[in-house]
Amino acid sequence: MTQDEMKQAVAKAAIDYVEAGTIIGVGTGSTANFFIDELAKIKHKIDGTVASSVASADRLKGHGIEVFDLNNVSEISVYIDGADETNRHLHLVKGGGGALTREKIVAAASRKFVCIADDSKLVDILGKFPLPIEVIPMARSFVAREIAKLGGEPVLRDGFTTDNGNVILDVHNMEIMEPTVLEQKLNNITGVVTNGLFAIKPADVLLLGGKDGVKVLD
Ligand code: A5P
Repeated sequence: MTQDEMKQAVAKAAIDYVEAGTIIGVGTGSTANFFIDELAKIKHKIDGTVASSVASADRLKGHGIEVFDLNNVSEISVYIDGADETNRHLHLVKGGGGALTREKIVAAASRKFVCIADDSKLVDILGKFPLPIEVIPMARSFVAREIAKLGGEPVLRDGFTTDNGNVILDVHNMEIMEPTVLEQKLNNITGVVTNGLFAIKPADVLLLGGKDGVKVLD
């Protein structure tokens, strides 16, 4: 099985978590794109979606799937999205695609978060994948200095602006031993919009694709 076939397998498996007659939260990235293509096959069964990025909204609309503004929706039954890293506690690093803030918002507004990933994303300790942090542009240097005090090496994502008009600092060389503690500390730095740790509110279910098929971790 190739990595893409694993992503496709978990995207298909995630369809079992889609509740008919409800609104579905949809994430961003290549695995989420496979999910969007699967969702298109059962689009008549759902009431619509909320997307975590302009790119995903465009792909959903391209399939004729309705995309709502989160402000016009009172309940999202499930949020389905990929991750850049996950540990066995379903703490995640996200934001490789730069959509972390909207992803965290839609995940927070959803009853359940189902993460879909191939097994290359499973690690013992988070942090090998540089941790993305969305930052208000004028605070970029200040926030970078504060992150350096915590032991990380922040690198500005060159030429990238988020859907919210902000910049991303990718933090290298952090061994994230206490994900919930670090998530809170980073949130407390003035100028940080969001960090890519999803540990205070981890995924509820992880569908992990490997050579032998899809494993369910919860
Ligand atoms: C987007 O900002 C990210 O959080 C993605 O969910 C993450 O990068 C996973 O992407 P892939 O499915 O492409 O690996």
